[in-house]
Amino acid sequence: MNFPLEIDKMSEKVYTMGIIIDEIDLEYKGSIFLMEPPTSNTYVFDPESPTEMARLINQDRAVTQAMGGPLLGITDPSSLHNILDLGSGPGGWALDAALARPEADIEGVDISRTMVSYANARARTQQLPNASFGVMDLTQPLEFPDASFDLVSGRYLFPVLKRDVWSPFLSECTRVLRPGGILRLSESLNFGHTSSAAFNRLGSLIMQAFCQEGYGFSPDGLTFGVDHILPTLVRQQGYQPVQLMAHPIDFTAFSADTYHNVEIIGYQVKPRLIKLGLITSEAFDELLQQTLIDILSETFCGLGYLFTVLGHKPPAS
Ligand SMILES: C[S@@+](CC[C@H](N)C(=O)[O-])C[C@H]1O[C@@H](n2cnc3c(N)ncnc32)[C@H](O)[C@@H]1O
Repeated sequence: MNFPLEIDKMSEKVYTMGIIIDEIDLEYKGSIFLMEPPTSNTYVFDPESPTEMARLINQDRAVTQAMGGPLLGITDPSSLHNILDLGSGPGGWALDAALARPEADIEGVDISRTMVSYANARARTQQLPNASFGVMDLTQPLEFPDASFDLVSGRYLFPVLKRDVWSPFLSECTRVLRPGGILRLSESLNFGHTSSAAFNRLGSLIMQAFCQEGYGFSPDGLTFGVDHILPTLVRQQGYQPVQLMAHPIDFTAFSADTYHNVEIIGYQVKPRLIKLGLITSEAFDELLQQTLIDILSETFCGLGYLFTVLGHKPPAS
């Protein structure tokens, strides 16, 4: 179950339902060293924003369910002893993996201290000592030795990695994977297609903005731009075989979550869309308002797609 979160930055305490669940703790955690926060941020949203964290917590439930669990497609999960989750956010995927594989160590890394602290608190409250989280910048070389993990995973990294850092990022993933290990990346195809013209227009503006700002490889901004190219990029790193899975997400079944997600994304992207000249402030407010009204309508329906690329690193010869 997900609870709303409140973070008091002055007292450095995290509350849910009025109860303190964590004091923001920047010490050594598990096997991960929490480094100084990086100065550059390429995430399209503020990674320290409690609102963004609440959005990710809320979204996680529907997404992992649509994906058939955290490890779908891995034929022998018992072979996984060390698992790395890149851009782990509030920790949903990593904690589900820790529950599914109690014998394995799961490490999650994220640029956000707020999310890392919350994810460590969840590992404690869910009594998952095999999960730990630390601060790390994915746009830099990963601070792990070669061949450290059997599985390297990442979900929703398209709004994190600009198009010129995907190749060095994939090289780093490959370096820290053991021979015979698996790279597992799950990304969104697009913003989703729905019965609401306003929703679809909002989605197309957001994809256009990300494309113009250097995210994804779309030639026209009609998708988030990683779906068509990611299998090729993974193959170029020497993975063989490379498998693909698609996960439909029924927005109709999760319309309360969809409302929450779109509302928060909307307020966060508004300044970018205006800055790029894609829409005026007034037109944006009308569009978002109509989108939210449509999501609440009884006739609202929609589908989004997530896809997973599973690359197998060849065993040592
Ligand atoms: C779209 S969220 C996905 C979170 C999580 N993987 C999930 O599926 O719920 C992207 C995450 O990447 C993190 N992030 C952004 N820039 C980063 C960077 N340079 N290095 C590491 N993490 C970063 C954000 O803080 C956020 O938690």
